[in-house]
Amino acid sequence: MISLLRLLRLIGVGACGISAQFVTPPDDLIQSIGYAGVPVRFKEVPAGICELDPSVKSFSGYADVADDQHIFWWFFEARGINPEYAPLTVWINGGPGSSSMLGLFQELGPCGVDYFGNIYSNPNSWTNASNVLFIDQPSQVGFSYSNPVPAYEEDGNIIVLPDQTCPEHLPTPSTCGTYSSPDITLTANSTVGAAPAFWKTLQGFLGTFPEYSENGLHLATESYGGHYGPIFSSFIERQNDLDIPGAKRIRFETLLVGNGWFDPIIQYQAFYNFTVSPGNTYDYAPFNESTEFLVFDNLYGPGNCLDQLRECKSTGLNSVCSKADDFCMQHVEDIYRDALSRDVYDIRELSPDPFPYKFFVDYLNTPKVQKAIGAYTNFSAHSDTVYEAFSTTGDDARGVNSIDDIQFLLSRNVTVALYAGDADFDCNWIGGEAVAYEILAPGFNNAGYENFTTRDGDVHGQVKQAAGFSFTRIYESGHMVPFYQPLAALDLFERTISRTDIATGTQNASSVYQSTGPPKSLYREGNTTMQWKTVSTDKTYDTEVNRPGKAWVKLPDESETLIDSDYQRQYPFQNFRGEEDMSAWRRLLEYFIYVFYS
Ligand SMILES: *[C@@H]1O[C@H](CO)[C@@H](O)[C@H](O)[C@H]1NC(C)=O
Ligand SMILES: *[C@@H]1O[C@H](CO)[C@@H](O)[C@H](O)[C@H]1NC(C)=O
Ligand SMILES: *[C@@H]1O[C@H](CO)[C@@H](O)[C@H](O)[C@H]1NC(C)=O
Ligand SMILES: *[C@@H]1O[C@H](CO)[C@@H](O)[C@H](O)[C@H]1NC(C)=O
Ligand SMILES: *[C@@H]1O[C@H](CO)[C@@H](O)[C@H](O)[C@H]1NC(C)=O
Ligand SMILES: *[C@@H]1O[C@H](CO)[C@@H](O)[C@H](O)[C@H]1NC(C)=O
Ligand SMILES: *[C@@H]1O[C@H](CO)[C@@H](O)[C@H](O)[C@H]1NC(C)=O
Ligand SMILES: *[C@@H]1O[C@H](CO)[C@@H](O)[C@H](O)[C@H]1NC(C)=O
Ligand SMILES: *[C@@H]1O[C@H](CO)[C@@H](O)[C@H](O)[C@H]1NC(C)=O
Repeated sequence: MISLLRLLRLIGVGACGISAQFVTPPDDLIQSIGYAGVPVRFKEVPAGICELDPSVKSFSGYADVADDQHIFWWFFEARGINPEYAPLTVWINGGPGSSSMLGLFQELGPCGVDYFGNIYSNPNSWTNASNVLFIDQPSQVGFSYSNPVPAYEEDGNIIVLPDQTCPEHLPTPSTCGTYSSPDITLTANSTVGAAPAFWKTLQGFLGTFPEYSENGLHLATESYGGHYGPIFSSFIERQNDLDIPGAKRIRFETLLVGNGWFDPIIQYQAFYNFTVSPGNTYDYAPFNESTEFLVFDNLYGPGNCLDQLRECKSTGLNSVCSKADDFCMQHVEDIYRDALSRDVYDIRELSPDPFPYKFFVDYLNTPKVQKAIGAYTNFSAHSDTVYEAFSTTGDDARGVNSIDDIQFLLSRNVTVALYAGDADFDCNWIGGEAVAYEILAPGFNNAGYENFTTRDGDVHGQVKQAAGFSFTRIYESGHMVPFYQPLAALDLFERTISRTDIATGTQNASSVYQSTGPPKSLYREGNTTMQWKTVSTDKTYDTEVNRPGKAWVKLPDESETLIDSDYQRQYPFQNFRGEEDMSAWRRLLEYFIYVFYS
């Protein structure tokens, strides 16, 4: 064994530790020019990096939408159906500044990352029904970048380094790595401003892979997607009308928005409605009387949140809207967080909440994965730079025409499905329902609530629907519905894109379809799934009983990784993790073991 160890040490020494912190730029991207002249660089992602089935292809890359604005995307073919006959669905997360890798790994993508850092397959992936394209937008979100620079992160700020030397004072784990140079002029600063780059990214992708969009295009989004979704979808329709030479006319069919942030005037009030009157359905009244009064006054008192939002709406001034947003966030929204330390995205859990699982962030920061997807930078789940950029215009406090744009989409026969997990405080279902009424879709306001029953016969919520417009309340679900109710999310998705009724998936949601039932959704979960203790990160979430479940256990086929981690434990070479691709290591190791014993 001595000589084996010595051999291993020899490999371990050599390369220096410092540069291993940084991302080696890819040298194997294929270049193409998509529609509308948009340059694209991409590669095929090997099986096992996310999708485990080698017969299902995956590609990732960038659309170069402007000088110094490079938009990362990751595409997965549909599984179980011919991808060339499948429709194409684009998924974007919100923020502003959140990476769509959240959607991919925490919600509806083909895989997740477990406690041990290993990939597991998601049986309820939306790729079971569609090709899916995840886009990190606007520039500087997730893997999207302006210019890659060596830097570290401290208190939410990215501090650029003069060269590839990490400062010594950094805490462990170190935040040193390759970041997108933080520059608020090299991204969008509003929803409307982000639409053209999003459209260009689509044009680039569709021109590079025309075979994946033969059957229409759907956009699905969440949270700040209540802003992005309606505006981007209408932008696509209006670009179509322009018949731009070289650009593709996009057959745009569906918009889905989960727990969306559409209209601040309605939804800031809903923070009061969800916590005080009429309250949530988990029998959770979080505030004492004086806090209830404080929230009410901060909303409705003269010069307070609503007055400021109305002034933002009437003047449209950046300074007024930014100030209104700061005020409403601090004095209405954040009172809940500050007083309770509960997860604002799932009132049932205390903070820090281990759900949805966050292990994918470390996974995306390994050299093996960065190389496999052709990344230029390290991965950050949220971009503070983009958030800052949007703050300068107060975009969050603006309605940005989201309601008018949904009406416009409906007039174009686009299917629009709004849905909301009813344990989310942040973009809660009471506000979401009020927004749905405000749209005045034909036949919607006097449709009734019907049970939403999934293919296994379980009821997971209630839906009000008229023709192609629907609002679905999902029971026992936080903000990120596909994580908490994976089968319900998949069924809702499939039924929506095939334009059937959401309740059963058996009826044609033609222009005369209307759901029937009571005008209000009255079901109450009560407090049985409320948690009163924080949950440790080694626990899984049990979607059968809607609460924290068993501890993670290694899957039998994860023994491969077991070898790696065992070796790390036994032979903790400096820089082992940062140095080499693990599988190359394993191959070398196997070779030496073979030589040694033969
Ligand atoms: C989704 O597809 C995978 C792989 O084809 C399959 O194993 C799984 O059962 C499917 N899920 C559903 C809900 O049908
Ligand atoms: C929210 O609360 C306000 C103030 O009590 C009330 O006027 C409004 O009707 C409520 N909205 C909903 C949707 O319950
Ligand atoms: C009400 O709750 C707030 C916030 O938790 C606390 O600061 C305050 O002391 C409480 N007031 C009363 C009268 O209990
Ligand atoms: C950035 O990526 C490098 C290379 O994979 C890795 O060694 C480093 O730990 C990452 N840094 C961060 C902050 O994740
Ligand atoms: C937002 O971006 C636009 C387009 O780049 C720019 O013209 C405008 O000045 C920016 N607004 C602010 C407040 O920085
Ligand atoms: C609206 O779309 C549905 C399905 O997407 C289609 O069946 C119907 O013919 C369309 N109606 C019009 C008026 O275009
Ligand atoms: C709807 O589902 C609930 C369970 O959530 C059930 O008790 C009720 O009977 C169902 N209603 C109808 C009309 O089927
Ligand atoms: C649904 O009904 C519409 C209008 O009657 C029709 O055009 C369409 O083909 C039907 N779709 C399906 C899937 O049956
Ligand atoms: C849960 O609700 C029941 C019935 O409303 C109530 O008696 C009980 O005190 C609640 N439990 C907690 C921990 O609030």
